[in-house]
Parts: sequence; structure tokens; C-alpha cells
Amino acid sequence: MTIPTIDVKFYDPDVIRNPYPLLSELRATGPLLRQADGTYVVTTYAAVREVLVRASDFSSANANKRMWQGDQYAEAQAVLRGTCPVVPALLTADPPLHTRHRSIVRQAFSPRRVAVLDDAIGAMTQRLVDAIVSTGDTAELIAAYAGVLPMQMITEAVGAGRDDIDQVKRWSDAFLAHIGRDVPPEEAVGYAVQRVELQEYLQARIGESRSAPTDDLLGDIVRAEQLGDGLSVPEMICILEQLLVAGNETATKLITFTAHQLATDSELQKRARADRSLVPSLLEEMLRFETPVQMKFRHVTHDTELRGEELPAGSTVMVLYGSANRDADEFPSPDDVNPDRPNVRSHVAFGYGPHLCVGAQLARVEARIAIETLLDRFESIELDTDHPRPEVRASFVHRGFDSLHLKLR
Ligand code: HEM
Repeated sequence: MTIPTIDVKFYDPDVIRNPYPLLSELRATGPLLRQADGTYVVTTYAAVREVLVRASDFSSANANKRMWQGDQYAEAQAVLRGTCPVVPALLTADPPLHTRHRSIVRQAFSPRRVAVLDDAIGAMTQRLVDAIVSTGDTAELIAAYAGVLPMQMITEAVGAGRDDIDQVKRWSDAFLAHIGRDVPPEEAVGYAVQRVELQEYLQARIGESRSAPTDDLLGDIVRAEQLGDGLSVPEMICILEQLLVAGNETATKLITFTAHQLATDSELQKRARADRSLVPSLLEEMLRFETPVQMKFRHVTHDTELRGEELPAGSTVMVLYGSANRDADEFPSPDDVNPDRPNVRSHVAFGYGPHLCVGAQLARVEARIAIETLLDRFESIELDTDHPRPEVRASFVHRGFDSLHLKLR
């Protein structure tokens, strides 16, 4: 058999806006394809899960190397090299290093710590809704609500200063702004400068935490260091950076897509109002339907095979979570939103295998409380038609609306 070759521009604005017709065509072409530049592309649910679970064949440790390749990015690379080295850490590490990082991070999302955050989420959503009500009956949901809540919660879980939230959010936005689209080199320099600032900030917080470790992720990391099971400072910084960034954008997107679905499907909204137990399944279905992390790369560690095809060592593999989640073999009528699917939790929106999202539980709790609070506090949630319809523009990889204007009454 030969692997079909494709020449697809995943970062094309039309693809970013609506990748699903293209992803459907790719799945019909085959579970394993090859891009003109040699990158392998994995499209179907079964093949995606297979790659994700075979971590010793398909490594995560290459992800950072793909950023800003080529001479035009030399200046941005020099800025990054000037400070903390970007080392394999958690998301970009393989076992056994990954296993050690994961065991330290896991404590921050234990049921006890999430229960404390649970109360904080309830209080925060009420405060944010009060603020929306006080300013009228329309809101841009990301600025007023969905972008604020996850940032506050991940800052608490990590233990970054509350006064620094706005600055950390700006750094986090800059961190993500270059992923999943073609970045002009001069913009890349700006992002690199901001990443260095975030790294310096985290280094300072680690230093402070050493004298009085707190009951949060920063404290866990510093205590592990003091028990002699420490991480290097660059490892600590890379892990904290990942959590701060991964912990806010993705949950914002889930809340926003779900609120949009309720605003545009009045029957669904009516059902969710009559029966709040629908909300958790609706969130799972929205994770499947509008997967906030559409794709990640893996790296082939040694000559291997996938779906009966030879893959040489050193190859790059693009794993399409968003395509897997629209695979009709697993999810019949995949282009319909149906929270009653018997396998509504089987999506791979949180990944699969050893790198399965460590913050999935926190994201589910945050999104559930956020959506329930909107339903409780407003009798009607509708699109604000004084604004253009929301669109996805920023990135193929991190899929989300730029803004969502709602009428909330
Ligand atoms: C709707 C919300 C979220 C989505 C869709 C999501 C998605 C994902 C996905 C797809 C992966 C697997 C990446 C891979 O296979 O390489 C992942 C891993 C990860 N996520 Fe999430 N995530 C969400 C929320 C969160 C939150 C709230 C946090 C932090 C509190 C978080 C922190 C992480 C971390 C640290 C990893 C790496 C885990 C590892 O490598 O072992 N995520 N996430």
C-alpha cells in the first residue's frame, strides 16, 4: 500500500474558520496521509488513539523544536535562547521523565484541591454575572466572563499572585498567539520577548516560594525540590508556563462554544433550563463538536509501523484530535450536536493515553458552573445581532471565537 499524499494548508483562514469539510475529506482519503513536506497526518478516531497511546513510538519531546523554524525567525530564537532554556517538560516530555513531572503536578488537581477551587468558582461566577447585570443586558462573553474565570482559577491552582492576573493573561495570550497560524517574523520577536518576561516572572515566584511553600502547585514543586526529588529550574518554569497557558485558553473556548450553542439553538436551551443534568453531557458533546485543541505533533522515535504502513525514525506526525472527534465510525451523524449520544464522553478532546489532560476535571467543573450560572441568572441567552456573527480566526490549533456578543436578559 502507499500512503496518499496531500497538499493541505491547515493555516489557511478559510480552513481555520471551518476545518470540518476538509477534515471529512481527509478521513475519506485514509487514516494515515502524507503532507507534501513529509509530515504524516493521522485523521481517524482509531488511528489517533493508537498514536497517542504508543508514547514510546510516538514521542512528545519534539513539540518545541517545531516552533519558528528557518532563518527568518533567527532573531526571535536568539531572544528565547538568551534566558531560560526550553527543556522537555510534562507536555513535551516522554516517560520516565514525564511520569515524574506528572506525579508532582497531579497533586495540584487532587479532589481536595479541586473541591477548594469549586467553591471559589461558584463565588467568582456570581461576581462576574453581577457585573454583567450592572452594565446592562448585553455582554461580550469572553471579556466579561469566559476569559476571566479560568484565568483566575488557574492562577489560584498554580499559586501565582492575584494582583498579577492581568499581566499573566497578557503573557498567556502572547504565548498562544503564534501557534496554529503563519506568524510574520517581526511579530515572533514580540512574542519571544513576552515569553521571556513570563519566564522571569515565574523564576521570581519560585524564589519567593522556597522560603514559605504554599498549598498550591508552586508549593508542590518547591517541596519536591526540598525533599531531594527536585526539578531543575528550567523544568519548573516550563511546567508552570504550560499550566498557566493550557489552564485558561482551552476552558474559555469550551464555555464560549457552549454558550454560543445555547444562544443559537432555542430547543436545546429550553431543555437545559428544564433539566440541568443535561449540562455535563452538553459540555462533553461541545468538546467533541468544537474541539478546542485541534492538533498536536508527535515525533517517530525509531522505525515503526502504523495502520500497516512503514514510518521511518525522525518523521513528524500531525495528530488531528478534531478530526477524530468527527469520525462517523465512532460518532454517527458527527456534524450534529447531540448530547444524548451514548458515548458522549468518548471524545479525544482531552487527548488520550499518558498525556491525557491533567486539568480535565478542573475544566469540567469550571465549565459546568459557568454554564449553569448563566442559565440560572438569565431567562434568555441570545446572540446580540447588533454585532457580526462570531467567527474563528486566530488559529487552526487552538480553536475558539475571537468574541461572542450576547443578549442576556
Ligand atoms: C476544555 C479545556 C481543556 C482542553 C480541551 C484541554 C486539552 C488538552 C489536550 C488535548 C491535552 C493532551 C495533549 C497531548 O496529547 O499532547 C492536554 C494536556 C494537558 N492539559 Fe489540558 N485541556 C483543557 C484544560 C486544561 C486545564 C484547565 C489545565 C490546567 C489546569 C490543563 C493542563 C494540561 C496539561 C498540563 C497537559 C499536559 C499533560 C501531560 O502531558 O501529561 N488543561 N489538554
